[in-house]
Formats: sequence, structure tokens, C-alpha cells
Amino acid sequence: MKFYITTPIYYVNDRPHIGHVYTTTIADIFARYHRLCGDEVFFLTGTDEHAAKVVDAAAERKLTAQQWADQNAQAFQEAFVKLGIASDDFIRTSQPRHKEKVREYVTELLKTGDVYLGEYEGWYDAGQEEYVTENKAKEYEFKSPVNGKPLVRKKEKNYFFRLSKYAGALLDLLDRQPDFVRPEIRRNEIVNRIREGLNDVPISRTGGGDWGIRVPGDDTHAIYVWIDALFNYLSTVDTGERNRFWPADVHLIAKDILWFHAVIWPAMLLALKRELPRQVYAHSFWISEGQKMSKSLGNFVDLEKIDSYVTNYGLDALRYFLASNGPMGINDSDFAEAKFVEVYNADLANDLGNLVNRTLSMVQRYRQSVPAATQTGLRADAEKAVAVYREKMQRLDLTGAIEAQRVFVTRANKYVDESAPWKLAKDPTHASRLDAVLYDLAESVRLLSCLVAPVMPGVAMRIREQLGIPAKLEALGEELKWGRLAAGTRVGTIAPLFPKKI
Ligand code: MSP
Repeated sequence: MKFYITTPIYYVNDRPHIGHVYTTTIADIFARYHRLCGDEVFFLTGTDEHAAKVVDAAAERKLTAQQWADQNAQAFQEAFVKLGIASDDFIRTSQPRHKEKVREYVTELLKTGDVYLGEYEGWYDAGQEEYVTENKAKEYEFKSPVNGKPLVRKKEKNYFFRLSKYAGALLDLLDRQPDFVRPEIRRNEIVNRIREGLNDVPISRTGGGDWGIRVPGDDTHAIYVWIDALFNYLSTVDTGERNRFWPADVHLIAKDILWFHAVIWPAMLLALKRELPRQVYAHSFWISEGQKMSKSLGNFVDLEKIDSYVTNYGLDALRYFLASNGPMGINDSDFAEAKFVEVYNADLANDLGNLVNRTLSMVQRYRQSVPAATQTGLRADAEKAVAVYREKMQRLDLTGAIEAQRVFVTRANKYVDESAPWKLAKDPTHASRLDAVLYDLAESVRLLSCLVAPVMPGVAMRIREQLGIPAKLEALGEELKWGRLAAGTRVGTIAPLFPKKI
């Protein structure tokens, strides 16, 4: 099976922060999970570069727009590599491979009449480079909800996309395929907004010098940055062998950009007669120490902050925190150091780390190598955890999958306490019982090395090295079967996985 997952492409005018890192890390986790399942995965992230404000920001620094975009795209790329993101490609909208495709798509839409030249007047948010509907403008009191600057009344000759034509088809899609937009609340929001009616949308601009992709046949207009950007998901794979990845299985985004992904994007694909993505998943937001992150507060969890977490707790612990406590649902999550330390100590140091450490130490102390055993007291719990974990991962229910793993770790730790191997070891008549308990625990640790692998790939390898099995995992279908751990496996060098923090 193929699995194509995308993140938004990020504005090059911004510096990478925890929001960008979050979506990309979550996508990386699902990509890794599917790779482990043996799927053919394509995981795409990248940068969105043709905003008109890139030209201004570059000019302030006496750079060309391209130079400024190059610098900042590199900052994103380097940050992602450092944070263990294994994407299959990194698309930049200023790359010729993207620009050529976008011109092809727009040429086609001009031909079918789904894109036409018209005039538009409305409330414009210059900072966001987007028009706001009359209703929204009223609700915002004619000020930008992002930077508070007044919305401006703007009138321009524009190319339009005939969005109005697709309202019925979109409602139909959301009805037949309710999972097209998740979570469900977000789907319902979209359905309600479409029911209010859809207007055609402008898809070109005239400002911004020669930065951007020209409208085919009219050099005075550039394609509006959002339209240009959405096409990245298709343009990257719309070539040769890569075509087999289309349609995308998941567009992972946050709720801020749902309208573009759940309405405009599928409508454009319908107009192009292309297959539609299978799902748009919109998560919520991280706030920072109880407050919304904003430029005015200067409280972004930025790369420097992120780096300090990696240094203090390890990259895998950061990924675990993002995955287990992140805003995958409909509520925002707080990125707070106290919470981070609490989760680190409870889930990682005390639960998982302790289970691995005490299991391997006991195997080494009492038996030198993993004993042979048939009776098992943990197998049923393990199999249940594996089944729940897999089902949740398939559904993108990351918190649910991690919860299944956590429940199993708790159960296994309890099993250690209940069976008290240190007592069994004192009495030779309990030798076979001790063998069974140690095998159960060692096999559970092996299974856990597989379950944690998508979220904590480094920890998975370290668990496996300490257990004395190959660091690299085989296909999950095989790895997740109880009983794979061979008797006689010699435990390697044991070291704590998560030193406790105060
Ligand atoms: N360039 C557009 C997207 C075009 S996609 C065809 C854009 N870029 S952005 O740089 O502003 O990134 C927005 C995305 O960053 C959000 O959808 C989300 O994935 C991530 N986040 C930005 N801030 C966030 C939080 N505070 N919390 C979680 N994720 C957020 O919009």
C-alpha cells in the first residue's frame, strides 16, 4: 500500500517555531509508522515562498526576494533535519519544478473557464494577504485578527476561481465521506460555512513586483500565494513514477488553514478532474506557558528554546511530549516546562525507562541470557495493546495509540511487582516460574521497542541494543507477534534511558 502524507508548507518570512515543528513531527511519526508497516510512504513538507511580503522583508535587508527565501528555507530544512524529520522531499514553491506545474494547472483552468478575469471588491487583510468576508470583517470590527491593523477596502481586477460552482459537489463529498475532514467538529464547521453559500475567489494579485508565478498569458498578474501554495501537494508528485502517490492520503494541517484545504483545494481538484485527497486532518494549537504565542508578546517557543529541550531531555523525549500532549484533538495544548518535566518523569523515567531497566537487569542477574519459557502472564495484555495501538495509529489517533502503550507499560510494571522475581530467585523450586516471568518481561520490552519506534526512533534502537537484538526493526506485522524473542538472547550493556529530572 502507498501512503502519502503532507504538512502545510511554511511561510519563509517566519522563523521555525514549535507550531511548525509540531505538525511536521506528527507527520513524521505517521510516516515512520507506515514505513514500519511496510507501506510505500511519501512524506512531504516544504516552504511557501511567493507571498508579496517576502519582497518587502528582503528589501529591508537589502537582499533579493530569492536570496531571503533561500536563507529562510534553509533554516527550516536544517531545523527539520536536526529534529529527526525524515521527509521524502522538501518542496519550495520558488523551484522551477513547482512553478512549471502551477502554470500548467492554471492554463487548464483558464481553458475550462473555471478561472476567469473579473473584478473584486472586499475587505483585505494586508498582513495575511487575504480577503475577509463581510461577516468576518464585522466580527473582527474591521481589524486584522492577527495583527490588529485596520482591514482595507480593496478593489481590483483579478482572475477568479469559480468556487461557487462547486458548493453542491463539496457538500456531497462531505456527506458521502464524512472523514474527508477530521476531527468531526471541524467537518461540521466547514459544512455550515459552505451552506451559507460560496463566492468565487480571486486567485491573482498585481503587487509584489516580479516575485511569484505569472498568470499564463497575462504577465501583469501573479498567481495568489495561497493558490500557488496549495498546488504543492500535487506538483511534487505529478511527475513520472511519483504519480502513483496521488491522491494524498492525509493533509495534516492546523485549524487556521482549514478553509483553504477543505474547500478551495478540493474544489480546484474537482475543476482539474483530479482525484481528491482522502483526508484533511486539522489539529489545534499550541500555546506557550498558558498564553497564546504572538509576535507582540515575543513568547514563541522558538528554535533556541526547542534546542534547549533537546539538550536537557533528548530529542525523543521532546517528540514524545509533542505526541502525547499535543493538540491533535479540538482543544489547544499548553507547552509548559513544568508539564513537560511531569510527563518526562512519569511516563518516561518512572514507567517505560524503569520497566526496561529493571527487566534487563533481572535477566542479566538471574539468568545471564533470556530463558526459554512457554507459560505467559503478559501475552494477552500485550496482544490487546498491540491491536489497540495499531487501530489508533491507522486512524491518526496518536494520543490513543500512546495511551494503549502506556497502559501496557503500567501493566508490565505491575506484573514485576506482583510476581516479585527477586523472591522467586531465592528458591530453586521456582526456577521455571522465574524463567516464565523473565521471558514475559523481556518479550514485552521487545514489543515496546517496536511500539515506541515511530515516536522515539532513537530510544527504540537503544532498547533493542540493550536487549541484545538487532537495532533495526523488521516489518511490524512480524515484529508485533508475541514470542519472537529467542531464548538465549544475551542482554547488552544496560544504561538508563531517561535519567530522572527535578
Ligand atoms: N503557508 C501557509 C500554508 C500553506 S499550505 C498549502 C501557512 N504557513 S504558516 O507558516 O503560517 O504555517 C501554518 C501551520 O503551522 C499551521 O497550519 C500549523 O500546521 C502550524 N502552526 C503554526 N502555529 C501553530 C501553533 N501555535 N500550534 C500548532 N501548530 C501551528 O499558513
